[in-house]
Amino acid sequence: MILVTGGTGLVGTYLLQRLTQTEAAVIAIYRNEKSIAKTKSFFDAGAHPTNFNKITWLPASLEDIPALNDTFKNVTQVYHCAGLISFDPKDAKALHRVNVEGTANVVNLCLANNVKKLCFVSSIAAIGRTIGHAAANEQTDWPEQAVPEYALTKYLAELEVWRGSQEGLDVVIVNPGVILGCGFWDNGSSKMFAFSAREPRYYLPGGTGFVTVNDVVNSMTLLMDSPITNESYILVSKNLSYQEMSALLAKGLQKKAPTKPFKQWMLAVLWRLDWIRATIFGQPRILSRIMANGFKYTQTYDNSKLVKNTDFTYEEFEAYVLECCNAFKNKTTSSF
Ligand SMILES: NC(=O)c1ccc[n+]([C@@H]2O[C@H](COP(=O)([O-])OP(=O)(O)OC[C@H]3O[C@@H](n4cnc5c(N)ncnc54)[C@H](OP(=O)(O)O)[C@@H]3O)[C@@H](O)[C@H]2O)c1
Repeated sequence: MILVTGGTGLVGTYLLQRLTQTEAAVIAIYRNEKSIAKTKSFFDAGAHPTNFNKITWLPASLEDIPALNDTFKNVTQVYHCAGLISFDPKDAKALHRVNVEGTANVVNLCLANNVKKLCFVSSIAAIGRTIGHAAANEQTDWPEQAVPEYALTKYLAELEVWRGSQEGLDVVIVNPGVILGCGFWDNGSSKMFAFSAREPRYYLPGGTGFVTVNDVVNSMTLLMDSPITNESYILVSKNLSYQEMSALLAKGLQKKAPTKPFKQWMLAVLWRLDWIRATIFGQPRILSRIMANGFKYTQTYDNSKLVKNTDFTYEEFEAYVLECCNAFKNKTTSSF
């Protein structure tokens, strides 16, 4: 029996689509019926809509240990995809509760229920930064300087997973870059499509690693079904500047690409204005000081460990992004 957390999110939904194409019995946790409806409509638009009925949905939040414990009966593998993604300083406590304590709860229940293997979806946010132009890899040291709370909580969550491995649990950790996927257009990284469709004039400075959601779920299942244990893998298909990524999205959406970079002083003004707006209207922050500072850096990532240790190959990144742009224009999900 396979347990999936975060099955109502982008990664979890794609993973459920993948897992339900096998014979495996799959349990997914959920917090509210509305989120399940989102996942169901995603299945409905895909190639195997009836596979949705193969999933056993059980109510549990990561913070509710008794409810979570009830979902672990006869579970042999756990894919822990649930997490809170937020760069709003107001969400610091919630980030620690969900990402760190929630992951500790998952690890403890894996140990208590003799789960054979756990796959944890971390992030490149939990990988340190390099000096100069060197690409970061799985060994890059965690930075001394301040990082966004989200990054810190993903790093601390990894420590909980490594603690579990010390206590006898087989684990694999994946560290995806920014994940591109078709569907979930109003959510997280997928908001990039709507943003680009509005033809912004400015692009962000800096750059980072990107990966498709198919590559994320394919590598996760590959690692879980392999004898590999107690290893972490960066999942980055392409290292791109934000200018390059904006241009690719503009091309796919047949929109004008932004031509001017945000200067650091503009970002410094913008995060202050954003603070005022969020304070007056009680709305979530869009740009915090630490985020604005982060755009100073272009960090690249070395993806060779996964390719060397397994027979994994990344799908063609540009082609997939263009496919997602078409899906966005038609407001469909995917050709999965
Ligand atoms: N998206 C990216 O670009 C990216 C990049 C690198 C790493 N990651 C990591 O990948 C994982 C999945 O990301 P995603 O893009 O799929 O995120 P997402 O679409 O925002 O989905 C998050 C999932 O976590 C669940 N969740 C949140 N808090 C929970 C709690 N307290 N208890 C139980 N479930 C909870 C959500 O359930 P509800 O539907 O009930 O809210 C949802 O199913 C995250 O851990 C994230 O840190 C994402």
